[in-house]
Amino acid sequence: MTTSPYATRRARLAAEMTRLGGADSVAIIPTATVHPRNRDSDFLYRHDSYFYYLTGFTEPDAWLVLTGDGRSTLFCQPKDLEREIWDGIRLGPEAAPAALGVYEAHSVNELSERLPKLLENKATVWYPFATHPGLEGRIDGWLQKVRTRVRYGALAPETQRDACAILDEMRLIKDAHEQDIMRRAASISAGAHIRAMQRSATMLRAGQDVREYHLDAELLHEFRQHGSQYPAYGSIVAAGANACILHYRADAAPIRDGELVLIDAGCELDGYASDITRTFPANGKFSGPQRALYDLVLASQEAAIAATRPGARFNDPHEATVRVLTQGMLDLGLLDKNKHGTVDDAIAGRHHFIHYMHRTSHWLGMDVHDCGSYVEPTEIGQVSERIDPLSGEVIKDRPSRILRPGMVLTIEPGIYVRPGEGVPEEFWNIGIRIEDDAIVTETGCELITRGVPVDADEIEALMEAP
Ligand code: GLY
Ligand code: MN
Ligand code: MN
Repeated sequence: MTTSPYATRRARLAAEMTRLGGADSVAIIPTATVHPRNRDSDFLYRHDSYFYYLTGFTEPDAWLVLTGDGRSTLFCQPKDLEREIWDGIRLGPEAAPAALGVYEAHSVNELSERLPKLLENKATVWYPFATHPGLEGRIDGWLQKVRTRVRYGALAPETQRDACAILDEMRLIKDAHEQDIMRRAASISAGAHIRAMQRSATMLRAGQDVREYHLDAELLHEFRQHGSQYPAYGSIVAAGANACILHYRADAAPIRDGELVLIDAGCELDGYASDITRTFPANGKFSGPQRALYDLVLASQEAAIAATRPGARFNDPHEATVRVLTQGMLDLGLLDKNKHGTVDDAIAGRHHFIHYMHRTSHWLGMDVHDCGSYVEPTEIGQVSERIDPLSGEVIKDRPSRILRPGMVLTIEPGIYVRPGEGVPEEFWNIGIRIEDDAIVTETGCELITRGVPVDADEIEALMEAP
């Protein structure tokens, strides 16, 4: 029998707990709770990512308890015919060991009775800090129960440690099982972007009233059609000037002939996110100014992609992007050469910030902004200080993370031009972002989202009438 990826991860967590805090350790990992929406309706349930990473189990009301010797105990909803008629089939504690490979399983109703016993005679208790409101209080309650037994010789844990410190590092490097799911999620999302682009041009050519929600509907259709459970985050479908609002959502604005549309949307598949942005002309043909800015953003993304390889720093793609974008802003008159000087001067003064105000990358995985430190752990003590040229604040910098094979990050440069004095009018209200998802490989990076093209000519070609 092959070991499931979940069992392998549990074994690694137990080994790390033992290495860092001794073998007398126990980890408590709850899944997410159900959130009521109104009356007896709940928000759509989404499991906790840490819990799922260790179990592959998606039911609510479940807990994993893992001891340093590698023994795992699952607490889950008991079988209950009436509740299962209303809410769905439950795995139940009897079937759980065979289905999930855990050592033993009990009803979640026995949690409070059994947890103090699992904590007894352990030195360290690990749990995810600041992730589940009320968890600390429940652990305190169980520890108090252990303390009532110290007169009988029981030992109570003296140390509490953050399980995220171990799990974030594990989740940062995606194993083959995870990479495979992420490639499939990326491919579904790429198809959804193509579908939305084509629908925009087709509807405009037919003289129809196109709204942002029409394109959102195309995305959702394609996600679900291919088995995605839901979008990985609220889709952005932004027509024209709305693209300059970074956290805009798919709303009801009209999509007009001659404008650009920015779509930032990705599906979640089997617990893993994808995250793609494309910007395209609503009618299928870029205007001159739109194309000039588009090609600049694309060139900055190419520079970032070239900088994404093992041994490079997480910040390197961002710095490569900023250099290309800032030079382009100076060349196109979006920044004034007489006022801002050379590209180095403009970057040092952070003048590009007016048109490019976000970072180029974030980790991607189970969560769209995935866990994992952005600071290189081996160099955490190397702190340098600098004064931010815009705010005047003192910023403490630590060396940025060294990229390693298996890390997954987005590469998403953009440009957002608001009307303003000295800003060439032909560029006003143009917002462009191009976002792809990259797996760091042994030699460079693999872009898993290029099922939807980025080249302007290729986008125009796929939006042409059939
Ligand atoms: N869609 C969220 C992001 O691009 O970071
Ligand atoms: Mn992103
Ligand atoms: Mn995005």
